[in-house]
Amino acid sequence: MISLLVINGPNLNMLGIRQPEVYGRDTLPGIETLCREHAQTRNVGCEVFQSNHEGALIDQIHAARGSHHGIILNAGAYTHTSIAIMDAVASASVPTIEVHLSNIHARESFRHTSYLSKVAVGQICGFGAHGYVLAIDALIAHLAEAETA
Ligand code: DQA
Repeated sequence: MISLLVINGPNLNMLGIRQPEVYGRDTLPGIETLCREHAQTRNVGCEVFQSNHEGALIDQIHAARGSHHGIILNAGAYTHTSIAIMDAVASASVPTIEVHLSNIHARESFRHTSYLSKVAVGQICGFGAHGYVLAIDALIAHLAEAETA
């Protein structure tokens, strides 16, 4: 069975409380349940992980190699700063889709740069929690395509 890993980075544990006008009212446990339930309807496995620490996120990305077929990654602000997380995604070579709740391209210019986009299969942003559902579907389609290629 295909297994996906959903990784959320710094401050995403504060969803629901944190700037709801930007990020909406969904909580992280709510988003994680949404991911698990949607994955189940698509007959794929889904594990979730959140950390506020760059090294812990890197360790999870490395560990995904051999245990998960794909990663959905919202690295929060590390998206815009972390060459180390970009390198981890490149090293693990597990297909990764980058997700953001907000439309980072419509916000401050420092959010327009994503190091992760250089190594991700693609980026989904601006659709709130639904972006994770879109990412699960996109990752399943990408994995199926890669298999037949
Ligand atoms: C975010 C966008 C980032 O710029 C921000 O630092 C976050 C959340 C999003 O999901 O919209 O923490 O990744």
